[in-house]
Amino acid sequence: MLMAFSTYFLLVLLQIFSALHFLSLAQDQSGFISLDCGSPKGTTFRETTTNLTYISDADFINTGIGRSIKQAYRTQFQQQTWNLRSFPQGIRNCYTLNLTIGDSTPFISALELRKLKNTTYLTQQGSLQSLMRADVGSISNQVLRYGSDVFDRVWTPYNFESWSQISTNQTVKVGNAYQPPEIAMVTASVPTDPDAPMNFTLVAGSRTTRFYFFMHFAEIQELNSNETREFNIMFNDKHFFGPFRPINFTTTSVYNPTEFVVDANGKYTFSLQRTGNSTLPPLLNAMEIYLVTLVPLQETERKEVDAMMNIKSGYGVNKIDWEGDPCVPRDYRWSGVNCSYIDNEQQKIISLNLSASGLTGEILEFISNLTNLEVLDLSNNTLTGLVPEFLANMKSLKLINLSDNELNGSIPANLLNKARRGSISLSIGGNTGLCSSGLCATMKKKKRNTVIAPVSASLVSVFLIAAGIVTFIILKRKKRDKLGNGTTPLHSSSHHGYESPVIAKNRKLTYIDVVKITNNFERVLGRGGFGVVYYGVLDNEPVAVKMLTESTALGYKQFKAEVELLLRVHHKDLTCLVGYCEEGEKMSLIYEFMANGDLKEHLSGKRGPSILTWKGRLRIAAESAQGLEYLHNGCKPQIVHRDIKTTNILLNEKFQAKLADFGLSKSFPLGTDETHISTVVAGTPGYLDPEYYRTNRLTEKSDVFSFGVVLLELVTNRPVIDQKRERPHIGEWVGFMLSRGDITSIVDPKLPGDFDPNTIWKVVETAMACLHPSSSRRPTMTQVVMDLKECLNMEMARNMGNRMTDSTDDSSIQLSMDFTTELNPVAR
Ligand SMILES: *[C@@H]1O[C@H](CO)[C@@H](O)[C@H](O)[C@H]1NC(C)=O
Ligand SMILES: *[C@@H]1O[C@H](CO)[C@@H](O)[C@H](O)[C@H]1NC(C)=O
Ligand SMILES: *[C@@H]1O[C@H](CO)[C@@H](O)[C@H](O)[C@H]1NC(C)=O
Ligand SMILES: *[C@@H]1O[C@H](CO)[C@@H](O)[C@H](O)[C@H]1NC(C)=O
Ligand SMILES: *[C@@H]1O[C@H](CO)[C@@H](O)[C@H](O)[C@H]1NC(C)=O
Ligand SMILES: *[C@@H]1O[C@H](CO)[C@@H](O)[C@H](O)[C@H]1NC(C)=O
Ligand SMILES: *[C@@H]1O[C@H](CO)[C@@H](O)[C@H](O)[C@H]1NC(C)=O
Ligand SMILES: *[C@@H]1O[C@H](CO)[C@@H](O)[C@H](O)[C@H]1NC(C)=O
Ligand SMILES: *[C@@H]1O[C@H](CO)[C@@H](O)[C@H](O)[C@H]1NC(C)=O
Ligand SMILES: *[C@@H]1O[C@H](CO)[C@@H](O)[C@H](O)[C@H]1NC(C)=O
Ligand SMILES: *[C@@H]1O[C@H](CO)[C@@H](O)[C@H](O)[C@H]1NC(C)=O
Ligand SMILES: *[C@@H]1O[C@H](CO)[C@@H](O)[C@H](O)[C@H]1NC(C)=O
Repeated sequence: MLMAFSTYFLLVLLQIFSALHFLSLAQDQSGFISLDCGSPKGTTFRETTTNLTYISDADFINTGIGRSIKQAYRTQFQQQTWNLRSFPQGIRNCYTLNLTIGDSTPFISALELRKLKNTTYLTQQGSLQSLMRADVGSISNQVLRYGSDVFDRVWTPYNFESWSQISTNQTVKVGNAYQPPEIAMVTASVPTDPDAPMNFTLVAGSRTTRFYFFMHFAEIQELNSNETREFNIMFNDKHFFGPFRPINFTTTSVYNPTEFVVDANGKYTFSLQRTGNSTLPPLLNAMEIYLVTLVPLQETERKEVDAMMNIKSGYGVNKIDWEGDPCVPRDYRWSGVNCSYIDNEQQKIISLNLSASGLTGEILEFISNLTNLEVLDLSNNTLTGLVPEFLANMKSLKLINLSDNELNGSIPANLLNKARRGSISLSIGGNTGLCSSGLCATMKKKKRNTVIAPVSASLVSVFLIAAGIVTFIILKRKKRDKLGNGTTPLHSSSHHGYESPVIAKNRKLTYIDVVKITNNFERVLGRGGFGVVYYGVLDNEPVAVKMLTESTALGYKQFKAEVELLLRVHHKDLTCLVGYCEEGEKMSLIYEFMANGDLKEHLSGKRGPSILTWKGRLRIAAESAQGLEYLHNGCKPQIVHRDIKTTNILLNEKFQAKLADFGLSKSFPLGTDETHISTVVAGTPGYLDPEYYRTNRLTEKSDVFSFGVVLLELVTNRPVIDQKRERPHIGEWVGFMLSRGDITSIVDPKLPGDFDPNTIWKVVETAMACLHPSSSRRPTMTQVVMDLKECLNMEMARNMGNRMTDSTDDSSIQLSMDFTTELNPVAR
C-alpha cells in the first residue's frame, strides 16, 4: 500500500501580509459557541485562564436535567465543568446549534465549536480527527489555545531528543489561511547533528488509516548571504516536496491535499533532509496530523431540514424525538419520518407520516420543499381549508392520505388527474366538505328538486368489453349497508362553481351524447343477459358504453349514489368509470376501454394462438390482486367484489390487468341469468365461496376464495368445473393431483417452457391457501399481493439474464409498493 507521490498535487500557502487583519481576528470570539452545560438559563461568565466567554446551554437543548458538581471539587477544575447536563430520559437527545452556513468547518471538543476558514483542512471524504497538533521546539512548554490561536486550536509542546530548539525575538508573520499561532512559529527544532535528517515516525492503529498532515515552516534565523537552508520532505522514503527554503520570518504551510495511507507496516515516516547546497540543517516550527474518520451517514439536506423545522413549528408538533437531524442517526430518526439512506449522499426525506398528530389549520406549503417525498400521510387530524395545488406538482409523491380531516373545496384538477392515471394514490375519505368530481355542482342543483321521479330502469352491472358473458352476483337480502345510505355524500363548494376540464371528464351525459359517443351504437363489443356493451369515443379516448336495459326497482338516488361512489374509486388496477347517463329509462355507464379483452379469452386461446408467458400471467395475477386489495383495504366503506373470475379481469393495450365490475354489485340487483344460482346467495359457480354459500355471511375472504380459483386457472388453464375429471372442481382436482405427487401434470401444457418451477409452486401454494374451506384461515389480499410480487420479482430477475429470448415488455411493469391506495370513496 505504498503511495505513488508523483500523483499528489502539492500546495504551498504563502503568507498574506495583513497584520491588521490578524490583530482584529485575535480578539474575535464571533462564531464560537462555548456552552457551560447544565448551568441555569441565562448564565454567562468569562473563564479566567482563556478569557473565553461561556453561556448556558439551556437555549440549545430541550431535554436533560441540569446538575452541579460538589463545591469541594470546584477549585480543581475550570468553571465550565462545574455544571453538567444529564440525560436520564429518551434515547435521542440533541443539541441544536446555529452554525454559519458555507464558510466553516467546525470541530468539536466537548461542546466548543470553532469556526475555521472554509479553504482550510479540506478532506476528500469523512471528517478529520486531530491526532496531533504540535508546537515544535516549544521553549515555554505551555499548551496554547485561544489567546494565542485565533481559532482556539489547542497546540501541545513537542520536542524530540535528537533535536534542538531555536527561537527568535522577532515577529513571525502568520497570516496565511491556516494562521498557526505566532508563539508556535517563533520557536522551531533543528537536528542536533546538523548533517542528520529530521525523522519522525508514527504507527497507525490500522493499515487502512488515512490521514492528512500540515507542516508550518518559517525561517527564524537571520542568515548571512553565504548561508542557505534548503531541504526536501520525504514520506516513507519517497520524495514528497522540495527542495524548499523556508521564508524569512514568514509562515509557509505544506500539506497533502489528498489523503495519505500508511505503509504495509502501518507506519508512516516523515524525513526532512537537507540538500547538498544547504549550509544549514532543516527546521520545523509546527505540525498537525489528522486522521480521516468516515461518518457513516451524511446529514439531511439543508432545505429539507428547514422545511421540517417549519412544519414542526407551524403545526406545533409536539414529539419528543423531533430534535436535531430528522434522518440521522438512522435508528434514531424522527418518528413518522423515513429517508433515502443512500451512501455518500445527503439524506432526503421520502416519507412523512403525521397521521393522528393533532394537526390543525391548513396544509402547510412548507411541505412542498420536501421535494423527494414519496409518501405523505396527514390523515386523522383536524386540518381545514383547501387541498393545495402544490401536492400535484410534487413529482416523487406516490401516496397522499388526507382522509379523516375537515378539508373542504374541491380537489385540484391536476391532482385528481394523477390519481385517475394511477400515478398517485390519493385518500380523501372522511372529509365531509370535500368534493372530488364535477358532479358536485350537479348534485347540489338536483338536491333542491326534492321530488325526484323514481327511475325504473334496468341497472345492470354488466361490463362486457369483448365477447364473453359476465355473470353477476345477486344479494337479494338487500341488506343495504352504509353504501345505500350514502346518497348525498358530497357537498359542492360554493367557490368552485365551475367544472374544470379534467373533473368534467367524470360526467353525466345526455342520451344524445351517448348516441354520438357510440356513433349511433355502431359497434357491439359484447352482449350479455343484462345489456349490450358498445364501443365509443369520448374526448378522443376509446370507451366502453354499457347500456342497461331491464327495469329494476332501483331508484334514481340509489343509482346516483352508486355512480358517485364508482366515479371516485380510482386505482390503476381497476377499470375506471368515466361517465354515466340516466335519462328516464335510458341508463348507461361509460368505462375506459380495455383493448385486449378479458383474461379468459387469452387463456382459452380465443384471442389467437399466442399464449401468455408465465411471467405475463404472474404480472396479471399481481395487478389484479392489487386492484382487489384496494377494494378491500383502500376503500371506505370496504368494497367486496363478489364476482372475481377470469372474465372480470380485463387487459388494456399494454396487457395491463384491471379488475372490472366492482362495487356495482352491491346495490344493483340484477335480472336472471342462467349461469347464476338464483338463490339468496349468488355468484358464478366454481368461483363461489362455499362458506358464503352455506352461511350467507359475506366477507372479503369470499373474494380471496374466488381469486384462488383464478390463480389455479392461470397455472393450469383447465376448466373451473369439469364433471369428467377425477375431481370436478379445479381446487379439489389440484389438491388431488398434489396429494398423488403428480405436480408437473397440473401445469398448463401450452405454457411456454421458460419459467422457474419454484414460482409456479409458490403460486399454487398461495392459491390453495386462498381456497381453504374456512374463510378465517385464508390469507388476506395483502398477503396474496406480497406473495405474487415476490414470484414476479424472482421471475423478472431470472429473465434479466435471458433478455434475448424474452420479448415481452418488462418496461411496462409497474407494481407500486402501496397496497392501500387512492381516492377513498366517501359515502357516509
Ligand atoms: C484576559 O483578558 C485580560 C484583560 O481583558 C488580560 O489582562 C489577560 O491577559 C487575558 N488573558 C489571556 C489568557 O488572554
Ligand atoms: C438560531 O438562529 C435562528 C435564526 O437565525 C434564531 O431564530 C434562533 O433564536 C437561534 N437560536 C439560538 C439558540 O441562538
Ligand atoms: C467560503 O466562504 C466565502 C465567504 O467567506 C464564500 O464566498 C465561499 O463561497 C465559501 N466557499 C465555500 C466552498 O463554501
Ligand atoms: C530574546 O530576548 C531575550 C531578552 O530580551 C534575550 O535574553 C534572548 O537572548 C533573545 N533571544 C534571541 C534569540 O535573540
Ligand atoms: C532572507 O534573509 C537573507 C539574509 O538575512 C537574505 O539574503 C534573503 O534575501 C532573505 N530572503 C527573503 C526571501 O527575503
Ligand atoms: C559565511 O561568511 C562569514 C563571514 O561573513 C563566515 O564567518 C562564515 O564562515 C561563512 N560561512 C560559510 C558556511 O561559508
Ligand atoms: C531517516 O529517514 C530516512 C528515510 O526515511 C532514512 O533513510 C534514515 O536512515 C533515517 N534516519 C534516522 C536517523 O532514522
Ligand atoms: C546547488 O545549486 C546549484 C545552483 O543553484 C544547482 O545547479 C545544483 O544542482 C545544486 N546542487 C544540489 C546538490 O542541489
Ligand atoms: C424506510 O425507507 C427504506 C428505504 O429507504 C425502506 O427500506 C424501509 O422499509 C422504510 N422503513 C419504514 C419503517 O418504513
Ligand atoms: C402512518 O402512521 C399510522 C400510525 O402510526 C399508520 O397506521 C399508518 O399506516 C401510517 N401511514 C403510512 C402511509 O404508512
Ligand atoms: C385517529 O386518532 C385517534 C387519536 O388521535 C385514535 O384514537 C384513532 O384510533 C385514530 N383513527 C384512525 C382511523 O387512525
Ligand atoms: C423552500 O426553500 C427555499 C430555499 O431554501 C426557500 O427560499 C423557500 O422559501 C421555501 N419555500 C417554502 C414554501 O418554505
